Amino acid sequence: MEKLVEQAAGVIIESRMTVALTGAGISVESGIPDFRSAGGLWSKYDPAEYATISAFRANPKKVWKMLWEMGEVVGQARPNKAHLAMGELESIGLLHCIITQNVDNLHQAGGSRNVIEYHGNSSTLSCLWCGKRYRVEEKRDENPPRCECQNVLKPDVIFFGEAIPEDAMRRSFEFASSAQALLVVGTSAVVSPVNTIPSIAKRSGAKIIEINRERTHLTDSLTDIFFQGSAGEIMPQIVEAAKRKRGKPLP
Ligand code: APR
Repeated sequence: MEKLVEQAAGVIIESRMTVALTGAGISVESGIPDFRSAGGLWSKYDPAEYATISAFRANPKKVWKMLWEMGEVVGQARPNKAHLAMGELESIGLLHCIITQNVDNLHQAGGSRNVIEYHGNSSTLSCLWCGKRYRVEEKRDENPPRCECQNVLKPDVIFFGEAIPEDAMRRSFEFASSAQALLVVGTSAVVSPVNTIPSIAKRSGAKIIEINRERTHLTDSLTDIFFQGSAGEIMPQIVEAAKRKRGKPLP
């Protein structure tokens, strides 16, 4: 592990554009279950019935029941050591952008500033009819939450079947295609189009550093340095090694 940490830190020190792609796994140590691990959210709720825009439109009250249950967990979650380590890496100029699939706001809470929310953010709700927006706290005791125009509100997260925000898509592509190092942390990388980010970065010559509790389809195809383990344990070690190396003149 020690050798891998030094190797990963070396890649980050030499990279003039380091980008991270994160998924639900980075927030598991903050108490938020991921989706596809054993016991993950999709083992409890069928995504076809709870995570598509057509399911939401057909039965918003049923989908909001799951959303409020998740909202309770997210509302109490705090950034863990992995989020904080990434915030520190950005603050010392060694991480330039995080592309996250998560909607829990924990990267921002962990000090990261340049965060692209590929699947939106769960802290606001919008009315699909009149466009009025609310903070989630304003509507926490309503199921389903309604706009003053009486229509049901939708969380500002991207459901399956919805388009990715154009700005998020464009900026993510720009960062991935100019990356010299890509940290892929806590994602199964099965959902498109966000799962094209690692291959875009690889094609542009980036070194891929993957942190995951288990191997993914990226591990044996695109990944250059693979850490099997928890993000909260491994990310801080990489940041500490990068800080040590940074203090030394490059060879
Ligand atoms: N440290 C590192 N990796 C972890 C940890 C941890 N502590 N805990 C879990 N993981 C890994 C799991 O092994 C898994 O590979 O994180 C990954 C989580 O994968 P998913 O549950 O599929 O989550 P994600 O990749 O973010 O899903 C993408 O799918 O349902 C949609 O919109 C949802 O944004 C989500 C998208």
